[in-house]
Amino acid sequence: DWTMDAYREEAIRQIREQVGDKKVICGLSGGVDSSVAAVLIHEAIGDQLTCVFVDHGLLRKGEAEEVVTMFRDHYNMQLIHADEQELFLGELDGQSDPETKRKIIGRLFIDVFQKHADKIEGAEFLAQGTLYPDVIESVSFSGGPSVTIKSHHNVGGLPEKMGLKLVEPLRELFKDEVRELGRELGLPAHFIGRHPFPGPGLAIRCPGEITREKLDILREADAVYIDQIRKHGLYDEIWQAFVAILPVRTVGVMGDGRTYDYACALRAVTSVDGMTADYYPFSHEFLGETATRIINEVKGINRVTYDVTSKPPGTIEWE
Ligand code: XMP
Repeated sequence: DWTMDAYREEAIRQIREQVGDKKVICGLSGGVDSSVAAVLIHEAIGDQLTCVFVDHGLLRKGEAEEVVTMFRDHYNMQLIHADEQELFLGELDGQSDPETKRKIIGRLFIDVFQKHADKIEGAEFLAQGTLYPDVIESVSFSGGPSVTIKSHHNVGGLPEKMGLKLVEPLRELFKDEVRELGRELGLPAHFIGRHPFPGPGLAIRCPGEITREKLDILREADAVYIDQIRKHGLYDEIWQAFVAILPVRTVGVMGDGRTYDYACALRAVTSVDGMTADYYPFSHEFLGETATRIINEVKGINRVTYDVTSKPPGTIEWE
């Protein structure tokens, strides 16, 4: 009888056998896959594992603190918090082309990861939260768009470059099985159930040029929106939900004054695998209440729109 508990035991046995007394490095993104992989490997080999968490300054509100608190303080893992916001935002300054933005982030991510990994003496293995669908994808579309999408997320090319061998304990699992394993390993439910978050983070939710001001506004608006979705009990029905800050200021009225602030778009979709998606049919009450909250609570936004585009022809993200 196949159970997740048995899988966990077997995976731990295999990790110990593969790694022996050598050291392992794991790139922790804060997403479900890398988190589950890290906790599983940590259970198998303890302090032989060091995680590197690259903070590119494009994370959501409170996200970096949450990752550090959970993995360092709660799980007692060796965690390097690479705060590289200056570097990423500096290089992204003035860039508005979506693919250029992705390439810059991907390149810097690898540089930073390598810089920190190089300091870990005796590391012979690189851990990745590769899932079964990723394995299939990279075989059937080798070099194609699906691989490109995840290339920086999965620190593509790094193992060869650094002479590291791969540890991929989730290779046989689908997403829902990874979630089950995560629950089995004691990861908090809200963490396991989190919506997917792209590697380039808020960069692709800030169409056009990225500025610190826009990112700060975006983080606040996104936090209010997700809070609304959770309060209305809708989070688990939605595949992905986020705010995009639009590269345009619009006129509004507030009290006796005129405002001239950013417009934003709310996005929420249902999907099975992210390949196709439908916009989520929120009630008008929900949308109205959320717009009012964002405009009242977030300084810098005075107009809220809802994106009703499905995929195809749209994409889930705005870039
Ligand atoms: P799109 O916008 O292409 O997104 O409909 C489909 C899914 O992929 C995620 N996505 C990315 N993930 N790096 C990532 O790691 C990327 O560059 C990237 N672009 C999109 C998106 O969030 C959605 O879940």
